[in-house]
Amino acid sequence: MPDVTRHLDDHYDALAAGGGESLMVRLQAAFRAAGRDPHRLCPDEIAGIDQLHLGGRAASRGLAVLGEVRSGQRVLDVGCGTGGASRLLADEIGCEVVGVDITAAFVAVAEWLSAATGLSGQTRFLCADAAQTPLADASFDVVWCQHALMNMPDVPAVLAEWQRLLVPGGRVLLHEVVAGDSPEPLALPVPWARTAATSHLQRREALEASLAAAGLVPLAVRDVTDTALAWRRKHGRREAGAAPTPPMPGPALIFGDEFVEMGRNLRDNLAAGRVRILEGVWRLA
Ligand SMILES: C[S@@+](CC[C@H](N)C(=O)[O-])C[C@H]1O[C@@H](n2cnc3c(N)ncnc32)[C@H](O)[C@@H]1O
Repeated sequence: MPDVTRHLDDHYDALAAGGGESLMVRLQAAFRAAGRDPHRLCPDEIAGIDQLHLGGRAASRGLAVLGEVRSGQRVLDVGCGTGGASRLLADEIGCEVVGVDITAAFVAVAEWLSAATGLSGQTRFLCADAAQTPLADASFDVVWCQHALMNMPDVPAVLAEWQRLLVPGGRVLLHEVVAGDSPEPLALPVPWARTAATSHLQRREALEASLAAAGLVPLAVRDVTDTALAWRRKHGRREAGAAPTPPMPGPALIFGDEFVEMGRNLRDNLAAGRVRILEGVWRLA
């Protein structure tokens, strides 16, 4: 297994890597314990474990509006995690989505959750490195990527793959964590990294230059750090027990007890300007 894959497995599938049960077994048991049939679920019930980005479903809906995503479009969800955005685009807009993720445990969970929500027909998942997929040239109208590039050490290679996979005039929709202006080191752990091995943050200017070099022309780009920070503060209060915890399985089942600390560090990194959140739409020239 290449080092990049192993580091990400050790991070995102840490509990199983440490000798525990598989992520899917743990999550299915948690749904049963919450009184739900894990093979018949609705989007609200799984939102705690299939939105691994700041802002949850509202952020994905906002990006879809910004990018004018339409019914029938073929979307590649890059670094799809457990597939929340893939299902949202299929269910709410009517897209056909392929999700690709390097973490095998997430791909297995994504397939199960799509089957459990009746969305297997419109969503398909693939375990692969985003820089090298087995997908056909010019087979997507939209590349969608939320909070995943910061895990990828070679962004230009990933963008070259998007250039190959998109139709001419196709769009890239990004909602990403980028390095901020503060020279202070990142407070760790954060949800995408326990150590520096899986964190590959780059500055906004560097990302924009790489996108331009890949033939991607910006249509709308905005900094949404303030909205993301407000959302993280609100959720952090809930996770710390100040507000009622929802009964459904949440991210601690994926990340373990460290999730509260990861969320707190992310909030502090945002507030101190060590990271910023960028979203935008680019068109392949
Ligand atoms: C923070 S999660 C975000 C998941 C999903 N986009 C979401 O917002 O719910 C980052 C994801 O990127 C995936 N990832 C990281 N590097 C990757 C690569 N080179 N190729 C494919 N997936 C990758 C990780 O496995 C992880 O699932």
